[in-house]
Amino acid sequence: MTHSAAILWVFVLFLFLSKPISSESDLSPEELSEIPRNFLSFARKAEIFDWMVGVRRKIHENPELGYEEFETSKLIRQELDQMGIPYKYPLAVTGVLGFIGSGEPPFVAIRADMDALLLQEMVEWDHKSKNDGKMHACGHDAHVAMLLGAAKILQENRHLLKGTVVLFFQPAEEGYGGAKKMIEDGALEKVEAIFGIHVDTLLPLGEVSSRSGPILAGSGFFEAVISGKGGHAAIPQQSIDPILAASNVIVSLQQLVSREADPLDSQVLTVAKFHGGGAFNVIPDSVTIGGTFRAFSNESFLQLKQRIKEVIIGQAAVQRCNASVSFESKDKIFFPPTVNDKDLHKLFQRVAGDMLSISGVKEMQPLMGSEDFSFYQEKIPGYFFLLGMKDETAEKPAHAHSPYFRINEDGLPFGAALHASMVVRYLFDSHKAGSTYSGYRAHDEL
Ligand SMILES: *[C@@H]1O[C@H](CO)[C@@H](O)[C@H](O)[C@H]1NC(C)=O
Ligand SMILES: *[C@@H]1O[C@H](CO)[C@@H](O)[C@H](O)[C@H]1NC(C)=O
Repeated sequence: MTHSAAILWVFVLFLFLSKPISSESDLSPEELSEIPRNFLSFARKAEIFDWMVGVRRKIHENPELGYEEFETSKLIRQELDQMGIPYKYPLAVTGVLGFIGSGEPPFVAIRADMDALLLQEMVEWDHKSKNDGKMHACGHDAHVAMLLGAAKILQENRHLLKGTVVLFFQPAEEGYGGAKKMIEDGALEKVEAIFGIHVDTLLPLGEVSSRSGPILAGSGFFEAVISGKGGHAAIPQQSIDPILAASNVIVSLQQLVSREADPLDSQVLTVAKFHGGGAFNVIPDSVTIGGTFRAFSNESFLQLKQRIKEVIIGQAAVQRCNASVSFESKDKIFFPPTVNDKDLHKLFQRVAGDMLSISGVKEMQPLMGSEDFSFYQEKIPGYFFLLGMKDETAEKPAHAHSPYFRINEDGLPFGAALHASMVVRYLFDSHKAGSTYSGYRAHDEL
């Protein structure tokens, strides 16, 4: 043994002896890796499972749209009261923030969205939506039930928390960007990392999927009014035809992604709305078109936005029409891309691997859909993943936002236990690393 090696050994021995023996802050790696499975068994107990299912069905029967989730929010607060969990209310109109743990930093958040969709439910079952034209067709009812399930697990195991867990019950994810309003109302104060789950009815039960980096696109909307001069359809020389101009605008818009974007940088531009004219023999005064555009980075997104405006105005002018273009409105705001933190991805792989075995974690292909969780990720490291809730009895499982959407409730314990395990592990690792650790706080690549 060399001299320096001997010194090292003495130092290691010193470290070993100076450690308090078997305090809770020193769970062995084996004990730590058992937590996710223990939490899952707990969440699967009949009483806990039935309670989560009950909460989910109650919310499913009474779907409420963005910023109108008054009953849902009330139900959440009643459940938190029952568990003895303190909370802050209201934020962002109906939002609730619950707190579990020491009340001291670090603060780490888990989030559920509460709103439903403007859609008539077509699934015939005992707990079908009782509100005509509204439906939980995106699983937010399950998101709330799983977050309450996680709250129960964490409250029972609060001795394991090396800091504070903040429960985010957020309104208005569907298009209104409730997350943005939560942030404006101070929800992220002190919070250093955040996790979110989305149910996936196409992914088998007990599987999860996600990836490091961008997973969902940023999304924006545009609307343009193209004005010409109406007149008799048989005397075109006396009119300025906005239908023809709008048609050329649409064709030109289709060349932005195909000719101006990097083929390896996925983008979408769709014109989904075309309103103009009403008669067979009248050229209308104006046409309104509108659509959505998607991209995975701010740069691509802003480039696309600028070119949409230039092309609409320029192309309309070719046919002597004027055009005005608008982008954001109160109920249609821009969502940034959803970008997962790479260190949190490692944490997720460890926790999900411990709970579900490695084969349960699938590498997700990025999707062009969007999610307002991205607003949190613009401020702090965040991690979003999909949880399998496929209904194996269905011949052809319906996608989210389908009136036939239906989840497999057996997936609820997985979501509750994953939420809870992620934050326990996050706080534990943070605590162990002390203030010198920058891993989970590395934010540069966002
Ligand atoms: C377009 O705008 C100009 C300037 O305001 C106006 O003179 C012209 O008449 C407009 N053309 C149409 C087709 O509306
Ligand atoms: C993207 O743009 C938004 C709004 O301008 C900004 O807040 C955010 O920090 C930007 N994100 C990145 C990764 O540059």
